[in-house]
Amino acid sequence: MPGSPSLPNRRTVLAVGGGAAAAALVAACGSSPTATTTTVAKGAELAAVSDIPDGGALVVDQVVLARTGDTVTAHSGICTHQGCAVVAAQSGDEVDCPCHGSRYTASTGAVLQGPATAPLPEVQVTVKNGTVLQG
Ligand code: FES
Repeated sequence: MPGSPSLPNRRTVLAVGGGAAAAALVAACGSSPTATTTTVAKGAELAAVSDIPDGGALVVDQVVLARTGDTVTAHSGICTHQGCAVVAAQSGDEVDCPCHGSRYTASTGAVLQGPATAPLPEVQVTVKNGTVLQG
């Protein structure tokens, strides 16, 4: 967005249909007892930007929110291995899957450690007035 300020309000952060991808993953891996779907409605509040640790991650409603300064990224919180819900690591730009040990970079969704081989799909969010909204 040329000319847009770097402030988080009214800034669309990322775009891709992560919810649909997560639902497809769960459908493919539905036998896992911890498999779940992302069901947050478009426009639903996920978190205040200030609740996301700078340089770290927060998982809310199965959406991984990562922040670096004013930049917020969002990815599905459903592990691409067999559909378990990932959790934020104790610190830093990382989320981990408690089921089989996959690790991801929170801000990009990239796999750091398998068995997962596919990255976490991006999720579309919007930052408005310091709040991260789904969609
Ligand atoms: S379901 Fe996440 S590592 Fe297997």
